[in-house]
Amino acid sequence: MTIIVTGGAGFIGSNFIFHMLSEHPDYRIVCLDKLTYAGNLSTLSPIMDNPRFRFVRLDICDREGVNALFEEEHPDMVVNFAAESHVDRSIENPSIFLETNILGTSVLMDACRKYGNVRYHQVSTDEVYGDLPLDRPDLFFTEETPIHTSSPYSSSKAGADLLVLAYHRTYGLPVTISRCSNNYGPYHFPEKLIPLMIINCLHDKPLPVYGEGLNVRDWLYVEDHCKAIDLILHKGRIGEVYNVGGHNEMRNIDIVKLILHALNKPESLITYVTDRKGHDLRYAIDPTKIHTELGWLPETRFADGIQKTIDWYLTHQDWWEPIISGEYVRYYEEMYGNR
Ligand code: NAD
Ligand code: DAU
Repeated sequence: MTIIVTGGAGFIGSNFIFHMLSEHPDYRIVCLDKLTYAGNLSTLSPIMDNPRFRFVRLDICDREGVNALFEEEHPDMVVNFAAESHVDRSIENPSIFLETNILGTSVLMDACRKYGNVRYHQVSTDEVYGDLPLDRPDLFFTEETPIHTSSPYSSSKAGADLLVLAYHRTYGLPVTISRCSNNYGPYHFPEKLIPLMIINCLHDKPLPVYGEGLNVRDWLYVEDHCKAIDLILHKGRIGEVYNVGGHNEMRNIDIVKLILHALNKPESLITYVTDRKGHDLRYAIDPTKIHTELGWLPETRFADGIQKTIDWYLTHQDWWEPIISGEYVRYYEEMYGNR
């Protein structure tokens, strides 16, 4: 079994590759990644010499390159993690989100059609459902919730999802889609809430909380997401969408305070800054379908997962220090300098 995993030098893709190599000793993984600012080859260095692993630097929008790789590798499956993934960046510059997230998805699926109707899995997001009101804790996203996006990022992911379902209906491509809530854990790029707050705390830098910090996200430990995708790949029904989330809703401000306390830092580091434009209020997944059909349940309690994550950042400065001293400095200044 050969699986092409796109975006495997990023946060969730790399965790997924580690999971698959250890859970499926007879599988070969080919990682296709463009190595954008978010891709980090050092993450994959422990497996670079593994004979069951191959890394190829490639853009998913590069049709010729993608076709050549399919001809060479004859993959049995493709799992597409490759994407521009940060909402704030999509608000500043939407076009690259449309290229990678929508056009790149179509290039991959065209290759799947051309080289033997290859099984295709699209890693999507709960953000395609838009948001839920803060005063209706009884409401959750199900797979039937209408697509209703807020940001260029979520719109591009929704566009890709619609395309994936269209390739299934029109061409009979064997597809599945997973729509997951917010992940956290090792190798999370420092522009995102949890790693950003941990790293700023460690440097005694202000913690930029958008608005009043009352927005709610539904956090899932990354390993649990990887296990869900593994299950969907092997047991999911073709043509179906599966929501993935663990009923772990937290307000941003509570996450920030938890990190401060864990690192023994003062709450005076919290700085309320201008809100994100179009900021989604609340995400909350109803995971009934994946639970009843595939038996998936999250295994990591948030209290354990966040402690493991904080410990990981404390012991892996060699991973994140080169990141935050490079192009990230300019990004941080532009995003937060005058906020
Ligand atoms: P990430 O930004 O950490 O990693 C993205 C990876 O994709 C990087 O390695 C990057 O180099 C690569 N990439 C970007 N553009 C590419 C291109 N054109 N060609 C090839 N490779 C390219 O992202 P992540 O947080 O790991 O998210 C992975 C996927 O999961 C995305 O599709 C995202 O929409 C989805 N998702 C993320 C979350 C989350 O909480 N992080 C939750 C649900 C769904
Ligand atoms: O729900 C799944 C989505 O989760 C994924 O599809 C996205 O790829 C992923 O980036 C994530 O999107 P969010 O926008 O929810 O994640 P982010 O870490 O950027 O922000 C989480 C919350 O924290 C959000 O309400 C904005 C807030 N925030 C974020 C940053 C970076 C702050 O208050 N301050 C910050 O500096």
